[in-house]
Amino acid sequence: MPRREPRSVTGSEQLGAYTLVRVDRGGLDPGVPGQFFMVEAPGRLLPRALSLCLAPVGELAFLLEAVGPGTEAMCALLPGERVHVFGPLGNGFRLGVERPLLVGGGIGMAPLPYLAHALPDAPAVLGFRTERHAEAAALLPQAEVVVEPTLVTERIDPGLDVLACGPEPMLRAVGELCAHAQLAWEAPMACGYGACYGCAVEIDGELKRLCVEGPVLGARRGGAHGSATKPLFWSAPDDPLRATPESAVSGVADEAGTW
Ligand code: FES
Repeated sequence: MPRREPRSVTGSEQLGAYTLVRVDRGGLDPGVPGQFFMVEAPGRLLPRALSLCLAPVGELAFLLEAVGPGTEAMCALLPGERVHVFGPLGNGFRLGVERPLLVGGGIGMAPLPYLAHALPDAPAVLGFRTERHAEAAALLPQAEVVVEPTLVTERIDPGLDVLACGPEPMLRAVGELCAHAQLAWEAPMACGYGACYGCAVEIDGELKRLCVEGPVLGARRGGAHGSATKPLFWSAPDDPLRATPESAVSGVADEAGTW
């Protein structure tokens, strides 16, 4: 069940262009990989939607890139400072797949270390725009890492069960390649629980709130509502391993072109 709690920062570390911020877990449930938390830094009006990156004992850890005042404030948090954390929210990845492949682009790798904890034997491919950004791959040691101009889509076996998070162009390319991929979408979020429509996107001709319907959606081709060439995006089916609806939206950066 989602809860809102004031929590204390326990530490942060720099990983290339990214910062891993840890908070004490308190009574918060880490949820299913791919779900997200609304995190509010001191002095900031709006919280940020952040996917859970790691859930070490007694802690929750979030991966961020400082791309504006809000994320800069979070990356600068010091041990002992208080943040408000609300979650877990949204629909995470469906874990009951036979041949998983984890795929991440840029800050979209954020939910994958926690996902790899649930799927420990799954191979992974990560794509970054620079070598400095690629330093964050240390969080996922088993991953194959590519840096632009190489794209993650060049390293995907379409026959695998792909679970991906990254910028929209990457997700669309992955969806074209893998009809049954699970894709974690990024969107600006204000409330995180379906009240503001700030995260609404048009999917299959309908407006969907990514914080409620996603952020993890499935990709499929064709069918009654689709064309043969353009993938459709649909809510992933219920799974006993998933939480109830209410996203790893990394939600902090658009790294379009990095995949
Ligand atoms: Fe408010 Fe989705 S973030 S409805």
